[in-house]
Order: sequence, then structure tokens, then C-alpha cells
Amino acid sequence: MARKIIVSNRLPVKVRRADGTMTFEPSEGGLATGLGSVYKEGENIWLGWPGLCVEESEEQQVITELQKERMQPVFLTESDIKEYYEGFSNETLWPTFHYFSQFAVYEQSYWEAYYRVNQKFCEQIVKFANPDDTIWIHDYQLLLLPSMVRESLPDSTIGFFQHIPFPSYEVFRMLPWRKQILQGLLGADLIGFHTYDDVRHFVSSVIHLVGLAASHGIIETGNRSVMVDAFPMGIDYDKYAQTANSEKVSGMVQEFQEALRHRKIILSIDRLDYSKGIPQRLRAFEMFLKQYPEFHEQVTLIMIVVPSRDQVEKYKELKIEVDELVGRINGLYRTLSWAPVQYYYHSFPFEELSAFYRMAHVALVTPMRDGMNLVCKEYIASRNDGTGVLILSEMAGAAKELSEAILINPNDVHQMVGALQQALIVPEENQRVAVASMQATVQKYNIHHWVNLFMDRLTYAKEKQNALK
Ligand code: UDP
Ligand code: G6P
Repeated sequence: MARKIIVSNRLPVKVRRADGTMTFEPSEGGLATGLGSVYKEGENIWLGWPGLCVEESEEQQVITELQKERMQPVFLTESDIKEYYEGFSNETLWPTFHYFSQFAVYEQSYWEAYYRVNQKFCEQIVKFANPDDTIWIHDYQLLLLPSMVRESLPDSTIGFFQHIPFPSYEVFRMLPWRKQILQGLLGADLIGFHTYDDVRHFVSSVIHLVGLAASHGIIETGNRSVMVDAFPMGIDYDKYAQTANSEKVSGMVQEFQEALRHRKIILSIDRLDYSKGIPQRLRAFEMFLKQYPEFHEQVTLIMIVVPSRDQVEKYKELKIEVDELVGRINGLYRTLSWAPVQYYYHSFPFEELSAFYRMAHVALVTPMRDGMNLVCKEYIASRNDGTGVLILSEMAGAAKELSEAILINPNDVHQMVGALQQALIVPEENQRVAVASMQATVQKYNIHHWVNLFMDRLTYAKEKQNALK
């Protein structure tokens, strides 16, 4: 039977070592949470890194545990993690692709590690793939993999999806390895991005840097044509809607609301990442408290920050900045019975997240740049009483679909302050109209729709190629 082999740097499960024993926990991040609910359909398998440097003596245990869930680990050494994951992926590509080129490190040894680890993934794919399997590669950590797999398995069907933005040609061209990266991607039959802007930027880079012709989303490489298109990723809508309706979550909502004295809740949830605009959001909240004293003791900002890439310098600096800002705001405004910012630096189990989504009057999602952002869609799906207000950055891919949100520019602190004040007084009937419309969108374009659309397109791309042979 034909299977999908999903390949990503991070598996949807991560291994942790605590007190000498290994535990297996769900991974955070949109790729893992989004695809985590669909990959088990059929006989599919997921190949990727289990998130920890595993000793050789532990490898078999990890393999056995993960295989039960149809996952196949790719083990990374300490130096792979340092140079390929923290280095090239997260100190070179991540900042560049999110328009933070000033943070980008250009280091030849990182590039060499990136090449080497992409090859390691390729070897694993070759080991596990049957000739009629579809290989679906995900995200910026594996940009060279499509061409590597193509070389080893020339007739294979290869899809690639990028979960982060593709920057404008003017930014992308700054990378010393820009041409190799594009050539790596062009080994795929179909390349997908979240938005048409990403598609445009990618095609423009291919035209300028590789010198290939492209029209109507088809790039001619000489011996094959490669399709490029936009596939805005969705969420497992029913899972969020049903969990929000469950008795367990209702009980939690009541308990949390009592603890927070039934104040209005503004919610933000992100990994600790400079692309998410967390300090900018805190500064806006501070200015809001200064400008609108009538809201003191009336609103609480619940800020969930999930630790991420904490060995990378810029992430360490950001942690210090966020800690200081939260401390300053609470230090200035808190009272005996009220802390303006409830800051959590850890992840939460799914049902608790659902309770937070349900009790939040306002979701404040203000990334400086984000490929899609699934948190805002999860908020909308969890609004089982039809109310709620979403403040959303224009710089998130999701803004293209959720136009009924209050859209803001995260660089404009005054606009964010105004949006907060407006969000807290929107009449309920207006909230219902906007939420209903956004729910219809998020429900229709859900994760199943996204997978089917991508797979249908990939089949079509392959059929077209075969017809031309
Ligand atoms: N998330 C999680 N545990 C938490 C907080 C968040 O699993 O404690 C999930 C959240 O539900 C969402 C994902 O992490 O599905 C974040 O995805 P998003 O696309 O918003 O941003 P990314 O982290 O991929 O940049
Ligand atoms: C984003 C990326 C994913 C990544 C996730 C978490 O969603 O698009 O590829 O897995 O962040 O980051 P991490 O570095 O912990 O895998």
C-alpha cells in the first residue's frame, strides 16, 4: 500500500531525560501540533529528530517506543545539534526568512553541518521508502533534502512544504549559499508555502539566482517541471471545538475564572521567539495601562511563553528582556490582589490551553513575522459561546484569511494600544458576527482539507510530468 513518509526535523514527540529515565512528550510548534493529528491515517510514517542527543546505548529503546506510534527517529549528535539545528537552521535561516537578517550568522562550518545532516535524513528515507511511497518533506531545516532524495530515488514523488515565510528576493539573496538552497528545493515535484506572497518571493529568487523560467506556478528545470503553490495550513478544528465543549475544560474554566476574580482576560501564547514580537506586545500593554487607568484591576494579560531554542544567543537575550519587562510592568502596576501580567514560562497540556482559549475575552497575537500562526486559529475554534475578539498582526500568514480580526502592525505601538482598548469594549453582537465568520473559515479550511489539497496537487504534478515523458 502506498504510504506517505512525512519528514521533518522535529518529530511530534520529544524525548526527555528526567532523573535517569526517558519520557516522551508532545512537541510544541505549529508543524508538530498541526500534522500530529493527521499523520497516523493509513500506514503513514513520520521520520525526524526526537529532540534530544540520545546515547548509543539508549537508541534502541527510543526506536522501539517511537515505532509503536509509527515514528522513525533520526538521531543527531551534539555537533549536529549545535551546528545544523541551532546553527544553520536557527541562526542563519530562521532570522533571514523572518526578515531579521541583522541577526543572521554566516558560518561555513554551519553550512557544512547543514549539508551533512540533510544527507543523514536522505539516507534514512532511502532506507525506509518503498517505490510507490510519497515523500513529504517539511520546513526550512531540510531545504537540501528534496534534491538529495531525487538523486537517490529519481522517480519518487516528493512534496515539500515550508512552514515559515519565504523572504523577498532582496533579503534571500544575502545568504552566501542561496543558489544551493534553491537547487536543493527544486528536487521536489511540488513546493508549497502558506501564502501567495511567499510563492512570489520564491519564484522571483529562482528566476534571479538560478536563471530558470517560471510561469503560472510552474518552474521549468530543463528535465522536469516543478509546481509551486500556496496552501494556507489549517488546524484540526473539531478537536479544538470539542475539547472546548468538554466537561473537564468547563470545570477548568470555572476554576481559573474564580482564581482570576472574573476579570477580563487578554491571552497570548507563543514559543519564546523574537519573530513573535513579545517585547513589543508587552510595551504596548504597559502603555495601555498608563493611558487607560480605568482598566486597572479590570484586565489581566495571561502570557504563555513556551521555552524554545534556549541555547541560541538571541533567544537567551530575549528571555532576559521579557523577564525584565514583565517584572517592570508588574512592579509598577500590581496591587495586593492583582497582577497585570500573569507570565508562564513553560508549556501547558492541551486541555489547559483549551481552557485558556475559552476564557480569554481577547487573543493578542502580534508576531513581527509569522509563516501562518496557528494559535489564532485555535483561539477561534475554541470560542464555543461565539464571543471573543482577535487582535492579529498583519505580518502573520493567518491575517490573509482572518480579515474580521482587528489587524495591527506590530511596529506601531500606538495602534496596538488603540486595538486593546477597542477590543475590550466591542459590543457582544459585533463579536459574534466576526467570530462566526472566522469560525466558518477555520472550520472549512481545516487540516484535513489542507492535507488533501496538497496531496491532490502533488498527484496532479506527478501525472503531468509523467505525461510529458
Ligand atoms: N502549543 C503547545 N503547547 C503550549 C503552547 C502552545 O503545544 O504550551 C502549540 C499551540 O497550540 C500551537 C503551536 O504550539 O499549535 C504554535 O504554533 P504556531 O503556528 O502558532 O507558531 P510556531 O510555534 O509554529 O511558530
Ligand atoms: C516552527 C517551525 C517548526 C519547528 C517549530 C518549533 O513552527 O516552523 O519547524 O519545529 O517552530 O521549533 P523547534 O526548533 O523547537 O523545532
